[in-house]
Amino acid sequence: MDKIISAKTSLKGRIRIPGDKSISHRAVMFGSIAKGDTNITGFLTGDDCMSTIACFKKLGIDIDVNGDNVTVHGKGLKGLSAPSEILDVGNSGTTIRLISGILASQDFDCVLNGDSSIQKRPMKRIIDPLSQMGADIESTNDGYAPLRIHGRRLKAIEYTMPVASAQVKSSILLASLFAEGTTVINEPVASRNHTEIMLNYFGADIKNKNGVITSTPVKELYGKDIDVPGDISSAAFFMAAGLIVPDSHIIIENVGINPTRTGIIDAFKAMGGYVNIINERSSGGEPVADIEVKTSKLKATVLEGNIIPRMIDEIPVFAVAALCAEGTTVVKNAEELKVKESNRIATMSEELGKLGIVIEETDDGMIIKGEQKVKAGTVYSHMDHRVAMSCAVAALIGDGDTTITNADCVGISFPDFYEKLESL
Ligand code: S3P
Repeated sequence: MDKIISAKTSLKGRIRIPGDKSISHRAVMFGSIAKGDTNITGFLTGDDCMSTIACFKKLGIDIDVNGDNVTVHGKGLKGLSAPSEILDVGNSGTTIRLISGILASQDFDCVLNGDSSIQKRPMKRIIDPLSQMGADIESTNDGYAPLRIHGRRLKAIEYTMPVASAQVKSSILLASLFAEGTTVINEPVASRNHTEIMLNYFGADIKNKNGVITSTPVKELYGKDIDVPGDISSAAFFMAAGLIVPDSHIIIENVGINPTRTGIIDAFKAMGGYVNIINERSSGGEPVADIEVKTSKLKATVLEGNIIPRMIDEIPVFAVAALCAEGTTVVKNAEELKVKESNRIATMSEELGKLGIVIEETDDGMIIKGEQKVKAGTVYSHMDHRVAMSCAVAALIGDGDTTITNADCVGISFPDFYEKLESL
């Protein structure tokens, strides 16, 4: 599907964005290996999380989906059964990396595969630590999916994370639930901690002392009710749009503001953006709030170091805001962008280039000159949901109508993105 986005002179209103992708995945996975029912409200019904549901159904778990209400009838830590076919993770890196941590210790074998993008995303980063725990994971594609997992008995390890990755950390933590002994993970740079929060909520024993995470197996996890907050990664598109489109005032309701995810708020504030956190509350151990943004005169900034994992998925749309700022913005230490659903350093620079924007690619990030003017044009999503939505935000300040080709990939994380944008 192609989508035409017109330039806007103002964006105003209140919106609710769909549920957090990371938390939705985890609620289904952990609910499946917990005893009893897990009732999830505000579930993200995007394609990625539906892939997770499909995988656990094939592993013998009954899951009822009714709009964004999902009930997982968990069968406990030893309740999964052998799938009769390949587990298809679609486009979802979170699904394949986290589920591998669970499947490594089962008393059956299985095969995981996904789409052409998944087959280009590095899996050695989970194969290495899981193998150290005794897992038997075979990549028939040189370190990429498909993966064949032969269930084995696992033992605890001590592991130092070479990259800040919540997916890798979560995969090891899930394996640790089934391993003999206490697993220790050293995390020099913090990544999102939804796994630690939710597993403990379900009864696990995971502690974090200054970046040293320990996990001691428990006999069982127990199903719980989870109310999924809105995804700050999806809110980021509307935050950026509200900051750069003239005469705008948007309130985004019910957004998760876990401090391991709020780098984008810190970055926009550092640029002089009006971003106001209101109505703070807590749900299932996760902080939630409404976010108010207004058109702002932005100034350039430097993004580097610990803030990068706290906003890794938001850097494409951050780049769009930066091209409106006064001065030159530099993004460093962000080489992880190259191994997302697309190489987001390359795809953002290529596609914004078609709208007359110059972004200089560097080895670990990008350099974005400010006060550039967006021209209307035609851009390609590269089938990457966040590239499509970032280009849509750039199109709002273009000098005419912009077409996004293969625009429906937004269904991965934000199925009604274009409708929500129109509603403002
Ligand atoms: C995610 C972690 C991040 C993020 C992805 C979701 C998660 O990936 O980019 O969209 O749910 O754990 P990495 O852990 O590879 O950085």
